[in-house]
Amino acid sequence: MARRKYIVGNWKMNGSLAALAELDAIAAQAAGATATIAICPPATLIAPAAARQPGLIIGGQDCHWNASGAHTGCLSAQMLIEAGARMVIVGHSERRTDNGETSAEVRKKAEAALAAGLITILCVGEIRAERESGWAIATVERQLEDSLPTAQHLDRLIIAYEPVWAIGTGLTPTVADVAEMHDAIRGFLGARYGTVGQDISILYGGSVNGDNAAELLGAADVDGALVGGASLTAAKFAPIVAVTVPPA
Ligand code: PGA
Repeated sequence: MARRKYIVGNWKMNGSLAALAELDAIAAQAAGATATIAICPPATLIAPAAARQPGLIIGGQDCHWNASGAHTGCLSAQMLIEAGARMVIVGHSERRTDNGETSAEVRKKAEAALAAGLITILCVGEIRAERESGWAIATVERQLEDSLPTAQHLDRLIIAYEPVWAIGTGLTPTVADVAEMHDAIRGFLGARYGTVGQDISILYGGSVNGDNAAELLGAADVDGALVGGASLTAAKFAPIVAVTVPPA
């Protein structure tokens, strides 16, 4: 099976009802894209976003591993689905840092999201000190070891490699470094899941924009992008959506 290609916008804690107007132009672009286009707005905007553009995949930015219960402020995968989400991001570095999420928790979130039926993007990535000391691949492999889900519903699993130092900074790794990391992740997935691991898409994320998207998405084993700042407006997102993501 050829790996699916995705370009996913992560709006983080940005956006408002008025910002949903951006989705109209994004949906129009998505119709002609070589990749599947998705937007993960703040949770309060999932329902209106899904209602406004049913053809776009709308996703959440996090979910709890339990279906319900005494977890004030949290949302379950089932709740996201009921709101109209078809996707969720788990283990984003901002949640690992801001909310102290561990890889063990990320694993439980991924398993719950996959079982509930969500396309699940599991994020990994090293900090700058780990990159500079030559520990980037070892760090990401450790995160994968601890946060990859059991081998069920893997057709819905996506990995996003997001070097923490590249997120929101305007900095990006070299294409060679991206290709090296994606190759390492691909190898890890193969060792963990066997041949099924070959079908899991691996996205790159971190300061992707209209100027660098073609180069980064052209790197070996890159199956698309997870885009933060440049996904907030259709004008900035358009040149990324327009990139032809090469077939696997
Ligand atoms: P950025 O964010 O594109 O603004 O660097 C990427 C992300 O955190 O997913």
